Amino acid sequence: MIKPDGVQNGHMGAILDKIIKAGFKIVAMKYTQLTPETAGQFYAIHKERPFYKDLVSYMSSGPIVAAILEKDNAVEDFRTLIGATDPTKAAPGTIRQLFAKSIEANAVHGSDSNENAAIEGDFYFSKLERF
Ligand code: RTP
Ligand code: MG
Repeated sequence: MIKPDGVQNGHMGAILDKIIKAGFKIVAMKYTQLTPETAGQFYAIHKERPFYKDLVSYMSSGPIVAAILEKDNAVEDFRTLIGATDPTKAAPGTIRQLFAKSIEANAVHGSDSNENAAIEGDFYFSKLERF
């Protein structure tokens, strides 16, 4: 997912370019906006965390890009490409180091396991929207 700050700050094209050049195939993609309710569902795993309320309001604050990406070793390779959650700790050249503004407004989301990638893909896309 390209998060609201990534879209808002004009980095959508540059982020997609880095993803494509890193060898990910785009299986499905959409430009949409979460509501507080759907953002809360997407990040339900963090419900008990102190930053949950802020995260839900931030994630529903503007348009996002949701995509299903395919690649060998995709989860790990994508997390390497995006860098650490906190952009001040993200490695040089990573998407978050280049484009993120803060630990919350950190430009992109990546699934943390194959299992969650499947759940998150189903959250955004029907079978008909994948090819
Ligand atoms: P993501 O799930 O979005 O790919 O990020 P991540 O795995 O790197 O980090 P995670 O621990 O899953 O946290 C989810 C998102 O919550 C926001 N966050 N804010 N204020 C804070 O201390 C804080 N910590 C995390 C970030 O937007 C983070 O990406
Ligand atoms: Mg996470």
